[in-house]
Formats: sequence, C-alpha cells, structure tokens
Amino acid sequence: MKKMPLLKEHILLVGILTFCINIDDARSLDGHYTPPNVARLTDLFHHQPLNQAFLTFFGGSNIHFVNNGSYVQLNLNKTSGSGLISLNKYNYGFFSAAIKLPQGYSSGVVVAFYMSNADLFPHNHDEIDFELLGHENGKEWLLQTNIYGNGKTNIGREEKFRFWFDPTKEFHQYSIIWNSHHTVFLVDNIPVREVENNEVMSTIYPSKPMSVYATIWDGSEWATNGGKNPVNYKYEPFVASFGEMEMEGCVWVSARSVPSCSKGGQEGPSAVDPVEGENFIKLSQQQKMGMDWARNRFMIYSYCKDPGRFPVLPPECKTK
Ligand SMILES: *[C@@H]1O[C@H](CO)[C@@H](O)[C@H](O)[C@H]1NC(C)=O
Ligand SMILES: *[C@@H]1O[C@H](CO)[C@@H](O)[C@H](O)[C@H]1NC(C)=O
Repeated sequence: MKKMPLLKEHILLVGILTFCINIDDARSLDGHYTPPNVARLTDLFHHQPLNQAFLTFFGGSNIHFVNNGSYVQLNLNKTSGSGLISLNKYNYGFFSAAIKLPQGYSSGVVVAFYMSNADLFPHNHDEIDFELLGHENGKEWLLQTNIYGNGKTNIGREEKFRFWFDPTKEFHQYSIIWNSHHTVFLVDNIPVREVENNEVMSTIYPSKPMSVYATIWDGSEWATNGGKNPVNYKYEPFVASFGEMEMEGCVWVSARSVPSCSKGGQEGPSAVDPVEGENFIKLSQQQKMGMDWARNRFMIYSYCKDPGRFPVLPPECKTK
C-alpha cells in the first residue's frame, strides 16, 4: 500500500522525462536544432546567373546584382519594392533559391520566391508560393507556403511554419518540386509540405506553364499579425539576397506550332530529371521522416485545421 504513491510518482517522473527528451532531441545544448539528414537535391543542378535568367519585374532601381550576377540584392524602400521574373516559363521541374532575409525590424515585409502563370492565363490562375513574412522586433520571421490551381484564388491553402534557424544570418535553400505527381516545398532540402496530385486535387492542381519570381514588397495590410504591424520605413532599406538559383525541368516553348517542353539537352528521363526522375516523383522514406520532423515541430498553421475559416474543410483535408 505504501508503495503506491511512490510508483505513481515514478511513472509521472518517467513520463515527464520522456516528454522532455522528445522535445529536446532536436536541439543541441546551445539551443540550435539538428535537422534530419535528407538527400541534397539542390546539389544535383547548376546555378543559373540571375542577371541572365531573369528580367526586371518591378522596382528596377532597387535591384542590385552582385558577384557577377550570381547573386542579387532586392531592396524595399519607401519608394518601391523590387522583383525579378524568369525569362523562361516552365511546365514542371525543380526550382530553388538560396535566400537571406533582411535583418532587424521587418514587420509587414514580404519576401517571396514563387511561381505563377499570372499573365499567361488570366482567370485561370496557377501559383506555388514561398512567402517569408517579416515580424515584430525580436520575433522570428515566418514561412508561409500556398498553392492555387485553375483559377481558384478564392480559397487560399496556406500553411505557416516557424524556422529552425535564423533566416537573416545566412543563406538557406528554399526549393519547389513541381511535377504531375506532386508539389513539394523544401527548406534546406527538408520537405515541409507535399501536395499530391490525387483524385481530390486534380481539378485544382497547378498544371499550366509558370514563370519564376523573386520579390520583396510591402505587405503591411496582411503580412504581420493580420496587418496590425505595418512596414516601418524608419528601418529602410529592407534587403533580401537571392542566389544559387536552380530552375531545371521543362522549358515551355510556345513558339512551336504545338507548344511543348524542352528539357535542357536531356535525351530522356533520368534519375536526376525533376520531371520524371525517381528522386522526384515520390518522397523517400527518409524525406517523409524529415517532413514529419519539420511539420510536427514547426508548423503553426494549416488551412486544413481552421474550421473557423472553412466550416466545411476543402476535400483534400480529409485524406490527411
Ligand atoms: C529608394 O531607392 C531608390 C533606388 O536606390 C532611390 O532612387 C530612392 O530615392 C529611394 N527612396 C527613398 C525614399 O529613399
Ligand atoms: C561573369 O559572367 C559572365 C557571363 O556568365 C562570364 O562570361 C564571366 O566569365 C564571368 N566573370 C567572372 C569574373 O566570373
């Protein structure tokens, strides 16, 4: 009888310890996370010179190429943000940029690396977004991913994540796998989100040729705390750096009588073909474990878990 409370305490203690270990196993003693090992897909492709593969999208005087055009600094000041648009349009492929975000105060600032068919198919909009959202002083930047297909821009499919590193200190890789099988968002090669092109997604899956964009702009109206923290231009200019640009896949050639794809000199599908290659058409067990690691620890919002916004959740949410 006397032993019972002890036993209970023991069980409680073991429980607490297990809980702490679970929380702590990703962090080393100095508070840094140790990300899981995953295949380094970004190592498979060459870096494109930004000053050759892109054109000015807006804010030309706030665009500064550095390192002979292999990197670019995109500035946002009171006059303008700035952005680049890829010379080519792509219909599936692998798209990646190393990005370093503005340091210091960044409320309301949005840095975006995304794909869109905006001008090519009006009212038939496809878009795949990485949006990096500035935050109040002392707080972290947030990562938002979103996807639109077939003009259905009335429903945003946002997910938000905290970072497991300081995205303003060094460059980190933000990558998109986009093919007929799935769309995957990766950060430092760790998948954070997979959107499969399955029965429920097929009518809203992005499938039209898209341009690649790198931008910085004023998102005062919504980006930080739903717009409560606008951009403060006392801290301008806000500077985002992009480099290590990879855009590999089907280049859309609309000048042909039947528009089609040209895959950079490749004869046929290979293991490193982001459109058909085995490394790209489904996630490996290791990548799935990496994705679980990222989502379990760092995802703070998913539209699939927002019944306030969607009294009836979109159909793909039920299959998760
Ligand atoms: C913003 O930057 C541009 C380009 O460097 C410059 O011409 C302009 O004067 C700047 N605007 C402000 C308000 O500083
Ligand atoms: C700069 O880029 C151009 C075009 O890609 C290339 O021909 C040239 O060799 C580069 N210069 C240096 C110093 O890397």
